[in-house]
Amino acid sequence: MADPFQDVDSAGPEFVKMFADAMDVRQSDPTMEKIVASYLDRLPFAADSLTIEVGAGAGAVTRRIATLAHPTKVVGYEPSKGFVNEAIERSSGHSNLSFVVADGASLPIKDKTVDAVVMHTVLTHVTHPESLLAEAFRVLKAGGSLVICDADFSKSTFSSIPNDPLNICAQEFVREFVTDAFIVGKLRTLIANAGMEIASFDVTSRVVTSREQMRPWVEVTTKQMVERGDIGKDLADALVAEHDRRAELGSLYGYQAFATAIARKPY
Ligand SMILES: C[S@@+](CC[C@H](N)C(=O)[O-])C[C@H]1O[C@@H](n2cnc3c(N)ncnc32)[C@H](O)[C@@H]1O
Repeated sequence: MADPFQDVDSAGPEFVKMFADAMDVRQSDPTMEKIVASYLDRLPFAADSLTIEVGAGAGAVTRRIATLAHPTKVVGYEPSKGFVNEAIERSSGHSNLSFVVADGASLPIKDKTVDAVVMHTVLTHVTHPESLLAEAFRVLKAGGSLVICDADFSKSTFSSIPNDPLNICAQEFVREFVTDAFIVGKLRTLIANAGMEIASFDVTSRVVTSREQMRPWVEVTTKQMVERGDIGKDLADALVAEHDRRAELGSLYGYQAFATAIARKPY
């Protein structure tokens, strides 16, 4: 099956709601908060500037940008109508924030009019990341900033023992919900090929220990494996039960690495 994040609306309303909630939860995680704060701190939010988020989802990051940048303008561009509806519902009270349905490879924006472009966990879900980077280059003003923050899914794991059976869920998530698990290793070349200069490139570890964050992954992956006939319902239930047992014991351990690249369009 193709990564559903390539076409979220086709994945159905249940998927939209579940992942809109999951992305809100992820953004409230202290490590994610820190990662986002550290790149937003480095963006100039001048009075008349425009910052856009490409692949804004249900707006978890866009709302943070809008709070920081207020009163200057922030627009989230997102190809899924379902996510845009969720984003609008979740962003009441942000007068400087709007959302537009648009693909990141074809933004309804004039050349050289944007001060900063943010792509947060988007490129790992697209088949042609170079198209999104070329579009970011087109819309950015000279000297404008590009922030790419993405998970290095090639390193994701739920293992806390050798051959940990729970890790099947992490492997399955990466296989079914990610387009390029190795995108992080390619970012610096992609950015340079798009004509931008890399100012910084950092990797931060994120450890997932909460039931709230890990259970959706376990539920969704086991459900799919059962639907495909790969495993029986008893094993799926056992994996969810093992997750819940560890949650109860406080021994859940999920590992993810997140890379943040900050680049500038040259003058
Ligand atoms: C994991 S979500 C991240 C959403 C949001 N940035 C966040 O962190 O909360 C990935 C997003 O990339 C979007 N996406 C997928 N293909 C895209 C494309 N070609 N252009 C723009 N966004 C895209 C999906 O619709 C989805 O909203």
